[in-house]
Amino acid sequence: MTVEALRSLPKAELHLHIEGTLEPELAFELARRNGVTLPFAGVEDLRLRYDFDDLQSFLDLYYACMAVLRTADDFRDLALSYLERAHADGVRHAELFFDPQVHASNGVSGDAVMDGLLEGLRIAGERFGMTGGLILCFLRDLPVASAMETLESVAGRAEDLLGVGLDSAEVGHPPAMFTDVFARAAELGLRLVAHAGEEGPAAYVREALDTLHVERIDHGIRAAEDDALVAELAQRRVPLTVCPLSNVRLKAVADLAAHPLRRLFDAGVIVTVNSDDPAYFGGYVAANYAAVAGEGFTVDELVTMARNSIVASFAPDQRKAELL
Ligand code: ADE
Ligand code: ZN
Repeated sequence: MTVEALRSLPKAELHLHIEGTLEPELAFELARRNGVTLPFAGVEDLRLRYDFDDLQSFLDLYYACMAVLRTADDFRDLALSYLERAHADGVRHAELFFDPQVHASNGVSGDAVMDGLLEGLRIAGERFGMTGGLILCFLRDLPVASAMETLESVAGRAEDLLGVGLDSAEVGHPPAMFTDVFARAAELGLRLVAHAGEEGPAAYVREALDTLHVERIDHGIRAAEDDALVAELAQRRVPLTVCPLSNVRLKAVADLAAHPLRRLFDAGVIVTVNSDDPAYFGGYVAANYAAVAGEGFTVDELVTMARNSIVASFAPDQRKAELL
C-alpha cells in the first residue's frame, strides 16, 4: 500500500502529545515572539539533538522546548499546525494529550493552554471537518498531590476535556500511585487512559487496568511479554494506542522487525497506530502506518487498525458511525 493510500484511510489519532508536535522552526518562531532564549544555536542544532537513548533522554529535551509556549495563541498555533498535517494524513478525529504541570511551572495557566488548544480544534473543525478533544495528562514522576491539585484546578471546566491520562518517566512510578486521582477524575465524568508498558513492565499494564480502571492503554507493548495479559486485553477488548516509530526512536524495541505489534494483533488485541511525539520521532501518523506496512501487514490489516482507532476513540457514537 502506498503512503498516499495509507493517508486516505479515515482514521483517528488517539496517542498524540500536542507538545510533541512542536517542530524546531515553530519552536524558534515562538521563542522570538515571546522573548525566550532556547539553549540551542538554531533549528539545525536542535534537530541534531533528536538522537535519543531512552525515554528520559527524550523527555529532557521535550520539556526544555516547552519553555517557548506561553500564550493561548501559541497553543492555538501549535494545535493548528498539527491538525493541518493530521488532516493531510487522513485523521478525521484527534484526541490531544497535553501536560499542564509543565506549563504551570513556566508560569502558564491551565486556562490559557486549554483555551488555545480548544480554539485550534474549533478552527480545524470549521476548516477540515475534523472532530477531537483534549486529554489532560498527569506527570507520573511529579508528586501525586500535584496531580490532584492540577485536576481540581480544572474541575470547573471538566466539560472542556475528554479525559485524563498519565505520562512521563514510567519506570519506578507505578500506576497505582494515582488511584485516588483517577477515581476523582471518574467522579468528574472524565474518560481514563494511561501510558503503561512502554518502558515499564507488563505488570504496570495490569495495574493500570485494575487500579486506575482505564479504558485504553497508551503503548502497552510490553504486555506482549505476558501471555495471560495479552489474552485478557483481547477478551476485554481494551485498545492499545501503539506508536511504532516512537518505540524505535526511544529504543523501547531494537527495531521495527522486533516490534510486538504483530503478536498483539494476531492475538486479537484492538491495536491502533499513532505518532506520540511526531516532531521528534521522524514521522506523523501516516509515516507510522507506512512503517507498519513495511513490516508485512496487509491492506486489510491496516484497514482494521484504522477502523480500530475510530472504534476506540471517545468520539460520540454518531460521529463514529459517520467515520466507519
Ligand atoms: N510524554 C511525551 N511522550 C511520552 C512518551 N512516549 N512516554 C511518556 N511520556 C511522554
Ligand atoms: Zn505518549
